[in-house]
Amino acid sequence: MARLTGKVAIVTGASKGIGAGIARRLAADGARVVVNYAKSADAAGLLVSLIEKEGGHAVPIQADIARPEEITLLFEKTIAAFGRVDILVNNAGIYEFGDLAGITPDSIDRQFALNVRGLILATQAAAQAFPADGGVVVNISSGAGITPIAQAQAYSATKGAVDNLTRSLALELGPRNIRVVGVAPGLTATEGTSGMGEEGAAPFVARTPLGRIGQPADIAAAVSFVVSEDAGWITGETLQVGGGLRL
Ligand SMILES: NC(=O)c1ccc[n+]([C@@H]2O[C@H](COP(=O)([O-])OP(=O)(O)OC[C@H]3O[C@@H](n4cnc5c(N)ncnc54)[C@H](OP(=O)(O)O)[C@@H]3O)[C@@H](O)[C@H]2O)c1
Repeated sequence: MARLTGKVAIVTGASKGIGAGIARRLAADGARVVVNYAKSADAAGLLVSLIEKEGGHAVPIQADIARPEEITLLFEKTIAAFGRVDILVNNAGIYEFGDLAGITPDSIDRQFALNVRGLILATQAAAQAFPADGGVVVNISSGAGITPIAQAQAYSATKGAVDNLTRSLALELGPRNIRVVGVAPGLTATEGTSGMGEEGAAPFVARTPLGRIGQPADIAAAVSFVVSEDAGWITGETLQVGGGLRL
């Protein structure tokens, strides 16, 4: 029996990139998966078809995680589709780069509204929806949470906040057997980072002991571990998954 058989997982921001890789992997592990997306209905639908072709079960559910009322709807629709929820992967996140001089209030608000406020409110909804015997929340952070990136000041700050929240939420939810674990990717090849090209990635590769950038499947493998019973004694920690990269 696959190790997540009987479990239901919501992966936020799963139509593309790292989230899509995580959704595919958790479905292969036996979970029924909600492929959440904000705008890319076609990509979410294609991923669900792929998961089903591979023998898994998934549904696409649209919800903008930066809008609190849509988070509530996401959980209601998940319960309607699958009857329960056991795992939340807070993956939806945006990154905006530029000089300090060019930062705008809107850019700061956009990044914090999704990467931090959305993560907190989705975790609040999950904690209400999880069964009495517990659940798992995975926060997708970034290496930038502990070693910030120049020109990504607000983004790095959101991920520092995510790491802090992984700890505080684990402290609060531990007594209910809800584990909260962070997974912090290094540079990973996704739709979001595709514009960097090989030249843009080269400085990161040069600082990566394993000598390449990550793939969504690398991050998904770590998530598969942290949601499993094998990680049942791990909470409040953030696992760096970047081939040894320090930004
Ligand atoms: N790629 C990297 O190098 C890297 C490194 C470290 C950490 N991370 C983190 O990993 C996560 C995913 O990054 P990625 O590179 O895979 O991103 P990506 O390729 O840009 O994909 C972003 C995904 O998030 C969804 N999304 C965007 N805004 C949303 C919203 N308001 N509500 C719900 N879903 C939303 C998008 O769906 P729609 O298209 O439907 O809007 C899409 O599925 C982020 O938290 C990011 O900070 C990435």
